Amino acid sequence: MISGLNKNKVAAILEITEDLNQIKDIDSLLDRVLLAARRFSRSDAGSIYLLENQKLRINYVQNETLIQKESGKKYLYQNHAIDINDKSMAGYVAMTKKPLIIADAYKLDESLPYGFNRSFDQHASYHTRSVLTVPLIASQNRLIGVMQIINSLNDQKEAVPFRSEDELVVAYFANHAAGCIEKAKMTREIILRMISIAEMRDPEETGNHVNRVGAYSIEIYSKWAFNHNVNEAEIKKIRDVLRIAAMLHDVGKVAISDTLLKKSGPLSNEEYFQIQRHAILGARLFKNSTSDWDDMASEIALNHHEKWDGSGYPGKVDDIFCETRAPGLGKKGCEIPLFARIVALADVYDALTSQRIYKDCWPEEKVIRYLQEQKGKHFDPELVDVFFSIYEVIRAIQNKYGDN
Ligand code: C2E
Ligand code: SIN
Ligand code: SIN
Ligand code: FE
Ligand code: FE
Repeated sequence: MISGLNKNKVAAILEITEDLNQIKDIDSLLDRVLLAARRFSRSDAGSIYLLENQKLRINYVQNETLIQKESGKKYLYQNHAIDINDKSMAGYVAMTKKPLIIADAYKLDESLPYGFNRSFDQHASYHTRSVLTVPLIASQNRLIGVMQIINSLNDQKEAVPFRSEDELVVAYFANHAAGCIEKAKMTREIILRMISIAEMRDPEETGNHVNRVGAYSIEIYSKWAFNHNVNEAEIKKIRDVLRIAAMLHDVGKVAISDTLLKKSGPLSNEEYFQIQRHAILGARLFKNSTSDWDDMASEIALNHHEKWDGSGYPGKVDDIFCETRAPGLGKKGCEIPLFARIVALADVYDALTSQRIYKDCWPEEKVIRYLQEQKGKHFDPELVDVFFSIYEVIRAIQNKYGDN
């Protein structure tokens, strides 16, 4: 099917295909699939919609133009669903399971059933012109979603129509990616189920909480890494593992009695001590196992309640399998691993901005004041600055994975 392409292109495509099989996290996978499709079609933007309750829910967005603008990044976290019918391009492609090439979304022929929804363009001050939409089809002709690629660019960076070669390459990625996406989605679902068992919460609440902590963590990391000149390949590799490891920070709660976790009043010292054990217990769950994220997950579980000023827990522990009641000497500053410092901030921010069985959610100004006040006490001061420098993105994530 890709016979019209030159040899180098084919080799590059095969290499990416190989790469996709290695990725564990669903968002990293969507990121990579979309990036590959955009690279080969030289296009500015794109989104992936996945099928969810008979609708297409937007799952992943890339936009080169908007990402260049600091204030544009928040548009990459969207939350909307569209119906599968002939009223939108994406809905039409889902319905017909056939690719669709549109030269100019603002000049659609009146006779076509679908229209173009301009609300994204209007909000984000973007101009969509050429649009290539392909179905994502897994085995047995099952539709799992739709990939939409926007604004093919010429050498002058002007949006031009897609070529039929673009359709071939993008459809090729879409077909290969569909199976990988299904697998990664299953991994995510299994992890979420594990976490909801561990934390004794209902699956919906758990999903939102850990999705937010995972997303905040990778965004804080990415900005930190950018400031420290970490190269892009390394950043992507870390993001793939960090999101999952961050989501798992509290699974040690599986070993804590649910009467404690569900207690609405204040905790006694002994009760609080018992709950604090979730850090060490979590770290144990990941030791001596073999998946790529285990080491990071263990490190995060163990250290996510350490504090920058040394007043956190469990402190220095010689052997996580050999517990004593005496608190370890506190870990301080950079003795606490970076990823745990990141998750500490993400977790507390999320705890304060959410309702818990033992507390109400705090008003936004109070949370902001608290984080600033804890800069250098509970939290790494540099990370607090990073956090507020991407605050719009943080709010967009909250909006995307809201409890409502
Ligand atoms: P969590 O609910 O996920 O809270 C994570 C962290 O957010 C807490 O760690 C704490 O650092 C911060 N945090 C949460 N709520 C507040 C608050 O109202 N004020 C302040 N200043 N910080 C807050 P921490 O304290 O080590 O607690 C770890 C876990 O222990 C909590 O996870 C929760 O599962 C449990 N827990 C803590 N306090 C209570 C309580 O009073 N009742 C119950 N049932 N559980 C509690
Ligand atoms: C994301 O930004 O949500 C995922 C992309 C990645 O993990 O690299
Ligand atoms: C939308 O964002 O509503 C979908 C765009 C389209 O495919 O028409
Ligand atoms: Fe915790
Ligand atoms: Fe937590």
